[in-house]
Amino acid sequence: MALGKSRMFFKQALGNPRKTGAVAPSSRHLAKHMLDLSGLAESRVIAEYGPGTGSFTRHILARLRPDQRFFCVEINPDFANALRQEHPGLSVHVGCASGIASFCQQEEVAGIDCVVSGLPWAVFPDPLQTSILESMLAVMPPGGSFVTFAYLQGLFLPAGRKFRRHLGRYFSRVERSSVVWLNFPPAVVYHCRK
Ligand SMILES: C[S@@+](CC[C@H](N)C(=O)[O-])C[C@H]1O[C@@H](n2cnc3c(N)ncnc32)[C@H](O)[C@@H]1O
Repeated sequence: MALGKSRMFFKQALGNPRKTGAVAPSSRHLAKHMLDLSGLAESRVIAEYGPGTGSFTRHILARLRPDQRFFCVEINPDFANALRQEHPGLSVHVGCASGIASFCQQEEVAGIDCVVSGLPWAVFPDPLQTSILESMLAVMPPGGSFVTFAYLQGLFLPAGRKFRRHLGRYFSRVERSSVVWLNFPPAVVYHCRK
């Protein structure tokens, strides 16, 4: 990965620690794990939440077929602008993922079959976790797929434990991958079905 992206990510992490939720972008190993478990191939409309410097975005774009739709939702306008520059034509909405219904309207899609999330759930307060999950489920058909990661240390934080309980409550199937050690920090992937 380009050093410039790591530097940009670190700078944003210093300026917005509670929104960025990490000090380094995800590795290509974590990206591969996420996408292998995402159900992307069988999805028509795909959204990425919290793309940051695009660690998952470029892998999604590489797997995307012409008959699929893809757009991103990123709260940090600096990340959004950098992504648009790197991937001309990529649709990146600036705002909170809880506003997904309005982003779907702007995209003129009825719903989303697959969400790939880079959001830092373990630093989110409970009302934000639930509002993002509930708004996502409201636009997702039964069988829709949700994939996200959690840093190993975050699994033991109260917000991380709460997030895991929410997944069990909101999704009909929740599975957790083995630890992806080749990431800083090491992480696990949750892959869920509505
Ligand atoms: C841990 S970083 C992950 C970045 C990238 N996906 C990766 O894995 O390297 C979290 C990202 O989520 C974004 N973010 C945080 N809160 C958000 C929210 N409520 N809605 C949309 N994006 C958000 C941050 O700006 C940041 O880009």
